[in-house]
Amino acid sequence: MSLPRINSRTPLHQFNNDDKQRPMSPNPHVAYILGALNPRKPKQRTTFVALIILVCLTSYIFIAHSASLSSSIALRRSEPSSADQLALALETMQNSRLADISKGHGSRKGHKHIRPPLRLDSAQELAAVSSFLASLPQNVIPHHVDPALPVDPPLVLDFDTRGPRAREEVRAMVEDVWLRNPVFVYSKHYSPASRELKSILSNLYLLPAPTIIDVDLREDADILTPMLKRLTSSPDLPVLLVGGKPIYSVEKVRELEKSGELQKIITAAGSLVNGSKRKKNRK
Ligand SMILES: *[C@@H]1O[C@H](CO)[C@@H](O)[C@H](O)[C@H]1NC(C)=O
Repeated sequence: MSLPRINSRTPLHQFNNDDKQRPMSPNPHVAYILGALNPRKPKQRTTFVALIILVCLTSYIFIAHSASLSSSIALRRSEPSSADQLALALETMQNSRLADISKGHGSRKGHKHIRPPLRLDSAQELAAVSSFLASLPQNVIPHHVDPALPVDPPLVLDFDTRGPRAREEVRAMVEDVWLRNPVFVYSKHYSPASRELKSILSNLYLLPAPTIIDVDLREDADILTPMLKRLTSSPDLPVLLVGGKPIYSVEKVRELEKSGELQKIITAAGSLVNGSKRKKNRK
């Protein structure tokens, strides 16, 4: 393939070329090689064979390397074919995976293409935690979580929080959780205020029914209680969420119910007042 280059680097090939022109070269290397060809000097012949093998190996490595180099250059320069696009797509995927890995190890060495980790505002965090707790009864906030700090999104979100669509998915999750649970209560089972709040809601015969989580009965109560105080800006439980908006204190809820305002905002959030009453009357 690129024999001239090899010749310029290896004395043996040079000898071959020179040999055709000047068979009686005074070059001491040539004299040595010529001597090696002499069958009466087996030691020198062994050296000669070793030299040939070395040259062949060097040439092979050189040719293989230059071939792979030139083919990769050709690939980049040629018009994008479907194969090239596939190669490019694979490369991009690999790069993004590498970026994910390096991010996963917490090493952000100033790479501009690495997406910053997803951050949730407190409304999104409240939605994420509520969605997590409401979706499965066995979902528990792990005890290593510091309730004073924003929760690590992957702990409570079931999609790739580092993916390119993470922001959209968060928006969809927030919408979805309050659509499924328009009336959400974080209560304390052993508390008169919670009992009164549940009673007010029960008398509204809501459809869908309120989602009620008795925080003090949960094994993650010690983390969840301060976390909810932070996320709902409420000094205590129970706290009522209507369409994801916290309404704190039973007194406030009672007032809103008396004025009919509570029914309005609950209806606007998507829960039907008296919706479950008619069903009960029919029975
Ligand atoms: C629900 O039913 C109660 C009593 O049956 C009634 O007073 C109230 O107006 C109803 N509310 C709505 C929003 O339909």
